[in-house]
Amino acid sequence: MKAILKWIENLGSRAVWIILGGGFLLGLIIAFLVADVSSRIQEAKQPYFQVVELDDSITDPEIWGKNFPLHLEMYKKTTDMERSRYGGSEALPHIPDEADPRSVVTQSKIDEDPRLKRMWAGYAFSIDFREERGHAYMLTDQLHTLRQKVGQPGTCLNCHASTYNIYKELGDGDIMKGFHEMNSQPYMEVAKKAEHPVACIDCHSASDMSLRVTRPAFMIGIQKVKKLEGITNYDVNQDATRKEMRTYVCAQCHVEYYFEGKEKTLTYPWDKGLKADQILAYYEQIAFKDWTHKDTGAAALKAQHPEFEMYSQGIHARSGVSCADCHMPYVSEGAQKVSDHHVRSPYLNVDAACGTCHSLKPEEHRARIDTIQDTHWQLRNVAMDALMALIDDIERAQKSGAPESKLKEARSYQRKSQFLLGFVEAENSTGFHAPQESARILGNAIDMARKGQAALK
Ligand code: HEC
Ligand code: HEC
Ligand code: HEC
Ligand code: HEC
Ligand code: HEC
Repeated sequence: MKAILKWIENLGSRAVWIILGGGFLLGLIIAFLVADVSSRIQEAKQPYFQVVELDDSITDPEIWGKNFPLHLEMYKKTTDMERSRYGGSEALPHIPDEADPRSVVTQSKIDEDPRLKRMWAGYAFSIDFREERGHAYMLTDQLHTLRQKVGQPGTCLNCHASTYNIYKELGDGDIMKGFHEMNSQPYMEVAKKAEHPVACIDCHSASDMSLRVTRPAFMIGIQKVKKLEGITNYDVNQDATRKEMRTYVCAQCHVEYYFEGKEKTLTYPWDKGLKADQILAYYEQIAFKDWTHKDTGAAALKAQHPEFEMYSQGIHARSGVSCADCHMPYVSEGAQKVSDHHVRSPYLNVDAACGTCHSLKPEEHRARIDTIQDTHWQLRNVAMDALMALIDDIERAQKSGAPESKLKEARSYQRKSQFLLGFVEAENSTGFHAPQESARILGNAIDMARKGQAALK
């Protein structure tokens, strides 16, 4: 009996020791884990070593890159050229000459589809219009496009270079003043001041790396959009959410625009809304034209890259997905999750670009994009043929001396049809950003072309 009691006593103290010892070990492990996790969180929060003191006067991305070497490395990859089915870009050799020192250019869109030349007859786009490529090229490509032959205004530079410090220089520290100054000078004058393509400083604040909008044209444009939603005095840098900023930094440039007045002020035509027909209605109201069509005399319009406007009509925008979600997806670097600054076609990168939200195999992501784009391309071609038929008919009617009233009506339809088709054509996702909206616009473009033909009967 005594022996049994002794054994129990021993067991008790042993159990206490086991529990104590085990508890101690467990405590150690937990403490270690907590320390490790918190250092990882710390690393993820503050993963950068400050090497240089950044401030608002530094444009050169190489200097910013001293603090953020990983981001600089990704950013520099925008020199890469890779074709997707409808996007990306193809590297074509070009023999450098005095006028154009580029050794590589992209494919010509007007040679790929000569109907575009007819659509833009008499306008600079019928001379030179190429597939776009990475951000690294934006300044050189603008300097050397043959469209510069007609003598462009400084307005062009707003979206083709790091302009933040140029605005400040031109406006004695006042960005808005510098913007107006830039627009009213000749392109070749202001381009001399530009040294870098869009750089860190154009999207980030130097003090805390938060996103910011630096383009006055967008600050003014988005105010118009918000006003239509009942929000007055909108200040994008104060009032936008972080999610919105992940789209707005891109929407500074990837939008339709025109030059207003003799000051050539860069203006986003959003007074009536962001949709193609609302923009057309605005141009109708102010009786704006880009040029007079050479073959028919129509007062014609040409849309350019309305990615933001079109994206805004799609399911992804409605679901709160931003440009950066697909074009700058997160990539893991150790414990760090960083935004891929190699901005490019998501088609070349579907696992990161789509996989975060849709768990599918890469082939399936691509197949979904293919389906949308192939369908879109068919309809786009139908619309293009309809427009060509209208232009043919107007030319024929002019030659056979048709009454001016009929010609006038037909030309007005050409203007509308051409703008709507051109809007979809200039939007660079080949339908993906808003498939149903693109189809609706193309349907209307076809309708306008056929009504124009009927007007001549
Ligand atoms: C849901 C994902 C998604 C979102 C959000 C998105 N895009 Fe895209 N974008 C795509 C896909 C897919 C393509 C087609 C790429 C191709 O054909 O290679 C594309 C094409 C483009 C292209 C042409 C790229 C090329 O290489 O030809 C540009 C420019 C572009 N998008 C800009 C934007 C901008 C600006 C926004 C925000 C206003 C935006 N995108 C929002 C998925 C997205
Ligand atoms: C509102 C911003 C903005 C302005 C202003 C602007 N661009 Fe661009 N430009 C872009 C964007 C975005 C792209 C890429 C998408 C595309 O090519 O459709 C581009 C592409 C280009 C390209 C390469 C593709 C091509 O068209 O051959 C050239 C060249 C070019 N622009 C020249 C000009 C000239 C010349 C002007 C002035 C008349 C100008 N840009 C004004 C935003 C702008
Ligand atoms: C300062 C104006 C500007 C800003 C801001 C800007 N872009 Fe661009 N983007 C351009 C121009 C100009 C080009 C065409 C350059 C060329 O062809 O030389 C371009 C090209 C592109 C391309 C085509 C790349 C390729 O390889 O074909 C994509 C995709 C793109 N931009 C997406 C974005 C996204 C997403 C954002 C925001 C994170 C953004 N851009 C911000 C002006 C801008
Ligand atoms: C066209 C706009 C644009 C340019 C140019 C740009 N960035 Fe960014 N950057 C972004 C966006 C969008 C994010 C995502 C921010 C967010 O989600 O709040 C980002 C995020 C970051 C972050 C935060 C961590 C991360 O990866 O999400 C750092 C650091 C950064 N960028 C550094 C740089 C540096 C350095 C440069 C120049 C070499 C640069 N960026 C150029 C748009 C840009
Ligand atoms: C940040 C999240 C996110 C990313 C990134 C994203 N999507 Fe989506 N996608 C959504 C949401 C949300 C919807 C809306 C459907 C829903 O609510 O289930 C959607 C819808 C779609 C649809 C259906 C469209 C329709 O009209 O019904 C397709 C196709 C699609 N996504 C393809 C893609 C592809 C391809 C990519 C990459 C280029 C991509 N998505 C990237 C969140 C995302």
